[in-house]
Amino acid sequence: MLNNGQLIPQFGFGVFLVEPADAAAAVTTALQAGYRHIDTAEMYGNEKEVGEGIARSGLDRGDVFVTSKLGNASHRPEDARKAFDATLDALGFGYIDLFLIHWPLPTRYDGDFVSTWLTLEEFYRDGRARSIGVSNFQPHHLRRLHEESEITPAVNQIEVHPYLTQDGVRAFCAEHQIAIEAWSPLARGGELLADPTVDEIARRAGKTPAQVVLRWHIERGDIVFPKSVTPERVRENIAIFDFELSGADVEAISALNRDERTGPDPDNFGG
Ligand SMILES: NC(=O)c1ccc[n+]([C@@H]2O[C@H](COP(=O)([O-])OP(=O)(O)OC[C@H]3O[C@@H](n4cnc5c(N)ncnc54)[C@H](OP(=O)(O)O)[C@@H]3O)[C@@H](O)[C@H]2O)c1
Repeated sequence: MLNNGQLIPQFGFGVFLVEPADAAAAVTTALQAGYRHIDTAEMYGNEKEVGEGIARSGLDRGDVFVTSKLGNASHRPEDARKAFDATLDALGFGYIDLFLIHWPLPTRYDGDFVSTWLTLEEFYRDGRARSIGVSNFQPHHLRRLHEESEITPAVNQIEVHPYLTQDGVRAFCAEHQIAIEAWSPLARGGELLADPTVDEIARRAGKTPAQVVLRWHIERGDIVFPKSVTPERVRENIAIFDFELSGADVEAISALNRDERTGPDPDNFGG
């Protein structure tokens, strides 16, 4: 449950780097596999196809939780209003479940992300965004919102995986009732999925390394939405609700932390 009482499925499907031509089919595959939460963004260029995939599934709009994010070029209030209208249009929806500022962009817009946040508050108040939140915000960015605005973000979507456990941001958000959404939960595949510690736990559990890493996120209480355009992996990734990791296994995976990002540093990313 988010800090405003809205429910969010803890597990979902991400569509970053899913080509528009593949996005509707990928979303349909995920919904058929049982996913009920889709994470997209204006900058992913596939909102329209995500909306099509949901419409094609035959599910009620209310059965699928959908998130999108404000593009980096649209932070000024008048641009943010147009961008939000365009997002709803592209998705084909009258409302969105969760809308985020994608990046704080402290080196752009004279460092002003507060007026952008106040504009998202308008979308929340008029009911077209059921929840609003931020992405890639550091504690000092969140502190400014706390001091200069009224609504606490429902979520902070940040890069988190066993090589980047983000203990500081997670502790700050826990204290302020801001849910953590872990992006790139698999560290985009590759080295993490061949890590000997993860591999040993996976063999013992009779699960794949990706399943063990996703289960680690679930045990820590974060919201996750791995991306895959491979139907077998889409199904593999959601098959993590029939086992648990011991506290010792969770700790062993957390101990892999190297503070290593796969993406940009929010403090100097200018979009
Ligand atoms: N807010 C932000 O700034 C931000 C930034 C990045 C991502 N995100 C969100 O977070 C979502 C997830 O992050 P991500 O897409 O960067 O990375 P990810 O989910 O950590 O990893 C995706 C990569 O892992 C591969 N993969 C997926 N399942 C696998 C499995 N079971 N075994 C082996 N490989 C597997 C995928 O390959 P195939 O697709 O080829 O199967 C893909 O290359 C995004 O889609 C997006 O919604 C947000």
